[in-house]
Amino acid sequence: MESVKEIPMSSQTPPPKYIYEDHHDHPALLPMIDLPIIDISQLTTAEADQNLRSALSEYGCIMITNHGVESWLLEKVGMVFKQFVALPEEEKLKCKREAFQGFGADPALAGDLLPVDWSARLVLNVLPQEFRELKYWPENPPEFREVVDEYGSKMVTVHEVILKALARSLNLKETTFLDKIGEPWILYARFNFYPPCPMPDLVFGLKPHCDATVLTVLLQDKEVHGLQIEKDGQWFRVPIVPGALVINVGEQLEILSNGEFKSSHHRATVDSERQRTSMAMICLPNPEVEVGPVEELVSEERPLLFRKVKYEESLQLRYYQTGKRIIDDARI
Ligand code: SIN
Ligand code: FE2
Repeated sequence: MESVKEIPMSSQTPPPKYIYEDHHDHPALLPMIDLPIIDISQLTTAEADQNLRSALSEYGCIMITNHGVESWLLEKVGMVFKQFVALPEEEKLKCKREAFQGFGADPALAGDLLPVDWSARLVLNVLPQEFRELKYWPENPPEFREVVDEYGSKMVTVHEVILKALARSLNLKETTFLDKIGEPWILYARFNFYPPCPMPDLVFGLKPHCDATVLTVLLQDKEVHGLQIEKDGQWFRVPIVPGALVINVGEQLEILSNGEFKSSHHRATVDSERQRTSMAMICLPNPEVEVGPVEELVSEERPLLFRKVKYEESLQLRYYQTGKRIIDDARI
């Protein structure tokens, strides 16, 4: 496994293992996409539910506002991770990544893999409480744990509000998707750290992928762009909208909804001069549960698209590193 020390920390020329042979468009040259912005405090009215449904069906990626997370808390979540990243190596090594949790690069698997991401992540199970492993939770800055705990409980509400609205918009009982992902479902956090790279068109911070999640709620860097999504065969930059959170549909929701909601294909590029951070709060099914399409969404006009799948972290990493997708294996 990569140690924290092996993470690209300086603006060096990227070593070969990070390099993509084909240049991608220089991040600054891509057009900006105008994503729908949904005020989620309006959900439960039929019109707002339908707007959410059509925005997510069309884009797989939207922005939300009025999500109930106060601006001071958004600010703090971004800040405590930046403060952690700025700590000396030996302090960060206290939370060193082992397998799936902690701080470091993804463990590199054996085999024919795509180039390595120009980034490091701090991955933490957040909820339910008994899944937390505090040894990976930074003790520095001192408010880190409290801030992430508070943000985590707000994220449970955001996920539930959206999943209920999507069920209602499809004329289903509002708890349908939540019932299907099992009790308790898992909330985990992925803090992404992207050091600058002098050749941003040769590496990716996160390679092109679809999230293997139900939903992902993303807090972007306040200043540095990096998130890009693919729509109709073209890559776009996602704008930074102060106070808004980005929602990505993941593959588990694509399966649950029998293809009504498509997972967004996205990637993170890096900046040539500035570091970037982002933080994803991720909803995953209960580890005991096999997720398949909701029965009411299967009919003669809408045949069953997917078989049931069980989310497994190690399997997911292999898919990610080889550029394959769980959902393609689940397709009937
Ligand atoms: C992600 O793909 O989950 C994160 C992308 C980003 O850093 O904006
Ligand atoms: Fe992602």
